[in-house]
Amino acid sequence: MFMARAKTHYICQNCGTIHTRWAGKCDACGEWNTLVEEGASGGIGSGPGMGKSRKGRAVALTSLSGDIEDAPRILSGIAELDRVTGGGFVRGSALLVGGDPGIGKSTLLTQAAAALARKSHRVVYVSGEEAVAQIRLRAQRLGAADTAVQLAAETNVEDILATLATSARPDLVIIESIQTLWSDMADSAPGTVTQVRLGAQAMIRYAKQTGAAVVLVGHVTKDGQIAGPRVVEHMVDGVLYFEGEGGHHYRILRTVKNRFGATDEIGVFEMSDRGLREVSNPSELFLGERSEKAPGAAVFAGMEGTRPVLVEIQALVAPSSLGTPRRAVVGWDNNRLSMILAVLEAHCGVRFGNHDVYLNVAGGYRISEPAADLAVASALISSLAGVTLPPTCVYFGEVSLSGALRPVAHATQRLKEAEKLGFQQAVLPLAGFDRIKGALDLTKLDNLPDMVARLAAAGAQQKKLRA
Ligand code: TYD
Ligand code: MG
Repeated sequence: MFMARAKTHYICQNCGTIHTRWAGKCDACGEWNTLVEEGASGGIGSGPGMGKSRKGRAVALTSLSGDIEDAPRILSGIAELDRVTGGGFVRGSALLVGGDPGIGKSTLLTQAAAALARKSHRVVYVSGEEAVAQIRLRAQRLGAADTAVQLAAETNVEDILATLATSARPDLVIIESIQTLWSDMADSAPGTVTQVRLGAQAMIRYAKQTGAAVVLVGHVTKDGQIAGPRVVEHMVDGVLYFEGEGGHHYRILRTVKNRFGATDEIGVFEMSDRGLREVSNPSELFLGERSEKAPGAAVFAGMEGTRPVLVEIQALVAPSSLGTPRRAVVGWDNNRLSMILAVLEAHCGVRFGNHDVYLNVAGGYRISEPAADLAVASALISSLAGVTLPPTCVYFGEVSLSGALRPVAHATQRLKEAEKLGFQQAVLPLAGFDRIKGALDLTKLDNLPDMVARLAAAGAQQKKLRA
């Protein structure tokens, strides 16, 4: 039907900004080619009552003090998942689970659904991506087929809500995925910002009204390339990212946002032929494939939230034939590497100008802590000088631009974990830790030049041994 004065808007699929005219670049977020035409009739605030003026309703104001109830939780019994959600799914809240396609979101949620159903919670699994037969096949493979999870293949929001209203309130509703949801209230295609936002809004409202926990699945790459979930992140109560490196079996579930708990937790899983297996000691996994004899490897004693994680950092420094030598990083911050290289050049007299530098964090793991600086610097020098580092030593500490080593949090926990895994030495900053003691042989250093000097001495000794 022809609609008079139907206005169209151009909505940036990256940040959700509404533009009145099309442009190649969104001036709000700076992304190119993200503007998509969407009907204004389906914009936010449309729907029944739009345009009619309504007298506002007064709400009761209250104070900041008063009784606080703990958020009511539903524990899945999958410890790695419950840790990341901060102690179980919260009733009446909405959680977004994002991740690259094929990473294992459906697998994880099928396992969680089955675990909850076994504890006689009511779980509804709505999939708009796969046919019922496909989901059943997966459930069989996961040994979850005999559970009382209720299944539907549906993508229309109104139909989903109507379906949910026909029976008793479920404890958990899983919607897979947010990109396939569409509402009658807008005529844009599924996956556009308008539809994603409407669908998410409807499901979040459902959660708040009924007290069911809602899990929304979203396909999204780490840099948020796919439309939708970025705008949903602001609306939901929690955001988890499921990540992993292609070729590795480890999967890491990471809290990005949590209104009911800490945001720096990770859960570690391993993908097997029968689903995801919990990994309760990630350090053992990340250190599993260590090559102790090669130069350029240093073990970093890291922390993820409340949990220590030991991981190997590998550096390869090789003479370059290029005018501009290569700098490639996997699992760490590119800028941080440039900074460490600059500090090594400026304060330690170590030159990387004619060398390609490759840095890799073993096991497909990603480090976000500055505490890894010292381990990275040690690995770099070790590779450049061809000196192996002692295989039973761990490193942690932040490097400042002046070359000084700065203390980091949770030193005791890092040292304990290293000790537990059979390490015998640790190198750490002197500042802040002058009184710290441990079962390990501790080397406390003031600055990075000291570290370089130590490695140079070790190098001279290794050369002598080889000669
Ligand atoms: P899936 O959960 O479908 O990923 P997503 O929902 O994030 O797109 O899982 C994808 C991959 O996991 C697929 O390539 C097959 C593999 N897989 C296993 O290795 N073992 C299993 O038991 C299952 C169910 C899947
Ligand atoms: Mg899936």
